[in-house]
Amino acid sequence: MIRINQNYTKLKASYLFSDIAKRVAKYQEENPGADIIRLGIGDVTKPLPDACIRGFQNGVSEMASEDTFRGYGPEQGYAFLREKIAAVDFQEKGADVAPDEIFVSDGAKCDTGNFQELFAQDINIAIPDPVYPVYLDTNVMAGRTGEFIDGRYEGIKYLECKKENNFLPALPDKNESIDLIYLCFPNNPTGTTITKDGLKQWVDYAKENSALILFDAAYEAFVRDSDIPRSIYEIEGAREVAVEFRSFSKTAGFTGTRCGYTVVPKECRVYDENGDETMLHPLWNRRQSTKFNGVSYPVQKAAEAIYSEEGRIQTNALVSYYLKNAELVRMAMTDLGFDLVGGDNSPYIWIDGKGRDSWEFFDLLLTKAGVVCTPGAGFGKCGQGYIRISAFNSRENVEKAMERMGDALK
Ligand code: MLT
Repeated sequence: MIRINQNYTKLKASYLFSDIAKRVAKYQEENPGADIIRLGIGDVTKPLPDACIRGFQNGVSEMASEDTFRGYGPEQGYAFLREKIAAVDFQEKGADVAPDEIFVSDGAKCDTGNFQELFAQDINIAIPDPVYPVYLDTNVMAGRTGEFIDGRYEGIKYLECKKENNFLPALPDKNESIDLIYLCFPNNPTGTTITKDGLKQWVDYAKENSALILFDAAYEAFVRDSDIPRSIYEIEGAREVAVEFRSFSKTAGFTGTRCGYTVVPKECRVYDENGDETMLHPLWNRRQSTKFNGVSYPVQKAAEAIYSEEGRIQTNALVSYYLKNAELVRMAMTDLGFDLVGGDNSPYIWIDGKGRDSWEFFDLLLTKAGVVCTPGAGFGKCGQGYIRISAFNSRENVEKAMERMGDALK
């Protein structure tokens, strides 16, 4: 008799964004004439930049001829891409990352979800609340949690992010001995950012406690204030205690094209059961070379084009376009009297629903305005009472959505 992994029974029935998609599809089926504007899942709407399209096309053309055809690629990704990533995303900004510390992948969702496989079953994990659901759900699947009771899994240290602490997680208490910490800045879902001093406290904590930080920087391209760190490696000492995840999904419109990367510095250490040090980089390499066969050559050529002069201008314009949408959402919701954060160095706006339940607010916006948002409660207990609005849509749709929400919420 084939039996299931019991840990899956602890999960909520469906993944947050699948759940929302099903509810919206049902509503659409019942209201076939409804014109629905999607500001829920952070999925881009603008096409790939021209530079990336050309890189992609050239890559495809090379696959058509015997002398330029490529089969399996190098296990960490092609050097032409990793060298540009290291130079432009890090070295140019004063962060020390080498090409061989970069692992090209099909995106940050898989990498942030898979990385926990490298660690022991009984480590202590700290996860912010609210949070991108992948960090928590993958640890549930791996059996690192107890039951789901009153909106929380037993065995997880939740780092509460609320209005009272400006949505920034506080360091765990000294006696909590946390081993693995998930951080995401600019944050999904709240859109908040962290200062260099704030991030330094986490790096110092990790060093003092022999812990590791998994730093999700999928939204770093949206940071426009020069004093906000875009990479954890801008912080002294981070190379010893932090892994960073990056994505081209929101930076360059790759949600459907799939490409991102993870940085595992050569200095990052973990410990075996005797407490002896071992290096993290070869472990991740071992995992990836066993379970992953890389990103296709044309996609890596498309990603390489992001780093050309033209590509940098075009991706910057793309991000600016969505940031302008975010500003419109911020202004419209503020005018309607809502308290909010995010949306200035982030594509997400986190809105306090003035006492409304998150899912009720979601239903109200869907049925009265034809607008899809993401209910804050879907990101954790501390998200109850909030909704997240994504700036990823056309200007026209964002303006229309704000107008309709204005009417519905008057
Ligand atoms: C989100 O809406 O939070 C993201 O688009 C989900 C993702 O990137 O997987």
